[in-house]
Amino acid sequence: MSPIAPPPRLCITAGPTHEPIDGVRYLANRSSGRLGIAIAQAAADRGWRTCLLLGPTPLRCSDTRVETIRFSSTSDLEALLADQAPRCDCLIMAAAVADYRPLRKPGAPVKHRRMKQNWILELEPTPDLLAHVAAGRRPGQLLVGFALEPRETMLEAAGAKLARKGVDLIVANPLETMDSDQIEATLLEPGKPGADPVVAGSTPGKITKTYFAIWLLDHLSVRLAGAGGSESHRV
Ligand code: CTP
Repeated sequence: MSPIAPPPRLCITAGPTHEPIDGVRYLANRSSGRLGIAIAQAAADRGWRTCLLLGPTPLRCSDTRVETIRFSSTSDLEALLADQAPRCDCLIMAAAVADYRPLRKPGAPVKHRRMKQNWILELEPTPDLLAHVAAGRRPGQLLVGFALEPRETMLEAAGAKLARKGVDLIVANPLETMDSDQIEATLLEPGKPGADPVVAGSTPGKITKTYFAIWLLDHLSVRLAGAGGSESHRV
């Protein structure tokens, strides 16, 4: 009799980042983290070992089966991923990670004072965390990114991100998903070498984030099973 493998280990990132400007101010975005929390809960419902890396949002995950670790900035999340990503079978990067952060000059005041002249903030690009994880992935790991895009150019931009980041799947969704209860999503995967990405699935129009979480995990279960992952051995 073959031994029963443990359920898959999922790591999911969710919510916004806060990028400090000085000791009291930050740059942020409108992400609520609701979608990532819904996915974490749905994964725990399946018995998956689930770790949620949750950004600075008033929402929380009350499910005690989910190990929740809070982060604030992109560099906090980078450090957490260095620890968590190698250990998971599947990483879902639903966090709205900042693309730029204020450049903090050595010796800058803890609180910038009001002045008569304009205050020009210099921003530096943040590292692409998902691309970095993908570059160091181990065989059999499933990596899923999100692409929040204007509806008119959504599929083209999401397809480009899929290739640029080197991930298995991208969830393309229009801008109005942010901070909403609902999501309308298209799942893209790489096509044959040299060919365009292909659509791996689409939600039936707008659906609640709770229902989307179940829909997405159904897709991922099949892939984890196909990769010979532990899901294939579950009873
Ligand atoms: N992401 C990341 N690190 C960043 C920015 C984004 O890991 N510094 C991840 C997000 O969590 C998401 C995916 O990359 O899963 C796409 O994020 P998005 O902001 O849509 O794409 P960008 O890489 O920022 O590209 P663009 O500015 O062209 O939209």
